[in-house]
Amino acid sequence: MNDEPFAGIFKESNIFAQRDVLSPHYIPEHLLFRDAQINEIVKAVTPTLRGERGRNLFIYGKTGTGKTSCIKHVIAKIKELSEVRARISYINCRIYNSRYRVLNKITSDHMPLYAKRGYGIIDIYERIINWIEEDGKILIVVLDEIDSVKDLDDLIYTLSRANSDIKSGGVAIVGISNNVGFKEDLDPRSRSTLYEKELVFPPYNSTELSTILKERSERGFKKERIDAAALNLAAAIAANESGDARLALMIISKAGEIAEAKGAEKVTQDFVREASKEAEDEMAYQLVNTLPEHQKLIVYAIALLSLQGSRYKKLTEGSDTYIFSGEVYSKYSGISESMHREPKSSRWYRKYITDLEMQGLIQTYESGKGIRGHTKLIKLAYPPEKIKSTIEKALFKDNEGGEGGAVQDR
Ligand SMILES: Nc1ncnc2c1ncn2[C@@H]1O[C@H](COP(=O)(O)OP(=O)(O)OP(=O)(O)O)[C@@H](O)[C@H]1O
Ligand SMILES: [Mg+2]
Repeated sequence: MNDEPFAGIFKESNIFAQRDVLSPHYIPEHLLFRDAQINEIVKAVTPTLRGERGRNLFIYGKTGTGKTSCIKHVIAKIKELSEVRARISYINCRIYNSRYRVLNKITSDHMPLYAKRGYGIIDIYERIINWIEEDGKILIVVLDEIDSVKDLDDLIYTLSRANSDIKSGGVAIVGISNNVGFKEDLDPRSRSTLYEKELVFPPYNSTELSTILKERSERGFKKERIDAAALNLAAAIAANESGDARLALMIISKAGEIAEAKGAEKVTQDFVREASKEAEDEMAYQLVNTLPEHQKLIVYAIALLSLQGSRYKKLTEGSDTYIFSGEVYSKYSGISESMHREPKSSRWYRKYITDLEMQGLIQTYESGKGIRGHTKLIKLAYPPEKIKSTIEKALFKDNEGGEGGAVQDR
């Protein structure tokens, strides 16, 4: 009976109890295996609660290791305390990705009436300074995904400069990133400001992920709807891949959806296997979307060349297309120029290739002595058609977007 198209949308799920508990945006009440890290964060911010500036903190860890969850957990605890001189701004720098936007977000968090008026950067800066000095506040600025800030050196300079301009009170920075190469790219002065204290979040192992999944699935799934073996498999896959709790959660929640769509009674290992393939692909496309512009263009060049096939046919075997690094660089340069971008130097290019390989988007290997002597060969780790269309969507959207798109680089 299909004459009622929306019949069934409120139908109770046979598999899920609370689907949102399995979502990556959900912040669990208890963060398992992170007591040490939470204590370190608390230790770093404790002086600020007493009105001292304390030391800036830098948090590093691969994706899905619980950085955002832990910091939000600590912020929530601090907000419960009364009579604390510290004020906190949590800022997702993927969205607030420039000095201006960050300072504006601070004013809108704490001085909402002022923020609406669209002042220039100097006015905003002075307003923040005055607000801090009113009663000697400490402002804790949490910059999550800090590597997304385009003029980060300026932002760090401005925030630390505030400390010398302020007569009473202060500013403390907590920076968070999952980008390995980020530290090396920073201006040495910003680096020493930001890295007064450093905290590393290690990837989760398979046992830890199993426990996290078990706790989450007790509320996410209906009783007896997911096998312990299925949970363990999802944990093992995610641990083997990257130790990423988000991936592990994504796998079991997708497995649940597959089971539900098939009208199965239980989420089994087979559904987990199917889901893990889908989840990995999805993560890759998300990753591509968040790459900086020139890395996107490089991946785009690799995808295009993979689709055309290398000029050196011997390197193309079945679906495995390896491409010469030099070919990629000239394709990338051509694309950049046609988009009115200055291509990065070949030194930068090589660094980007290393980054992309570390992120698992490409594989490379050195060819032996051959037609062109020693050279690097590159292969895309995901289907080129899908990568190509993902990047085209992202670039197209930015070009349309006018203000603030990735196009406006430094
Ligand atoms: N220790 C933990 N216990 C329970 N759930 C966790 C734990 N760590 C992470 N998670 C879950 O994993 C998901 C990802 O965690 P989170 O967003 O904190 O990672 P992250 O380190 O900030 O990653 P990214 O670098 O990608 O921003 C969230 O859904 C979170 O609830
Ligand atoms: Mg995060």
